[in-house]
Amino acid sequence: MSSRPTSTRIDETLRTERLLLRPPVAADAPAMARLAGDERVARWTAAIPHPYPDGAAEEFIAEAGRRRAAGEALVFAICLKDAPDALIGMVELRQTDSGAVELGYWLGQPWWGQGLMSEAVAAAAAAGRLWRPGALIGAHTFPDNVASQRVLEKAGFIRRGTGTCRAPARACGDVENAPVFVYEPGAGE
Ligand SMILES: CC(C)(COP(=O)(O)OP(=O)(O)OC[C@H]1O[C@@H](n2cnc3c(N)ncnc32)[C@H](O)[C@@H]1OP(=O)(O)O)[C@@H](O)C(=O)NCCC(=O)NCCS
Repeated sequence: MSSRPTSTRIDETLRTERLLLRPPVAADAPAMARLAGDERVARWTAAIPHPYPDGAAEEFIAEAGRRRAAGEALVFAICLKDAPDALIGMVELRQTDSGAVELGYWLGQPWWGQGLMSEAVAAAAAAGRLWRPGALIGAHTFPDNVASQRVLEKAGFIRRGTGTCRAPARACGDVENAPVFVYEPGAGE
């Protein structure tokens, strides 16, 4: 018998002070390919290859719709509230085989350093609680991704050991000693 927590339906769109998080649409593909195709973004992620393959953004967006419908993942395009059609980054919650929820995210380089991902991650993690009540929500970063670690801490995650992280944009292959974070809002206060 499956021990997976049951799902609660959540709103398709999340709002923060400055951001709108909505399901990605086909028209987002060029922005996604351009921004995720930036080596400065891809090299810090466990999911984005570099060079970014032709057609990969279109495929990812189509899959995001299928995965949402199947209850496997919630993928959000991150947009500024005053430009809701323009994707500037992405945040994703995906269910793992163990029933935990894993959080992944990236922001286009022109928007770094304004506190935007801290807003997006806080909203997505809270949505993850509704999506999979009781499930452990985790994330990992490369050891030297201090900005991402700070984003997680500000959003209510705490460090819980280390693990191995895929690094598809790096020639070195997997990254060891990658800090693991779990969502425990309030625990660090
Ligand atoms: C990491 C990333 C998500 C951060 O997004 P962002 O919107 O720039 O982050 P924020 O501005 O919300 O917060 C960054 C925090 O890290 C801090 N920070 C940034 N660089 C830092 C550094 N080198 N050392 C210490 N702190 C640093 C900032 O000061 C800020 O903390 P503060 O609000 O307490 O001052 C973004 O740079 C990105 O997408 N990078 C590439 C992909 C990636 O790393 N994805 C995450 C994979 S785990």
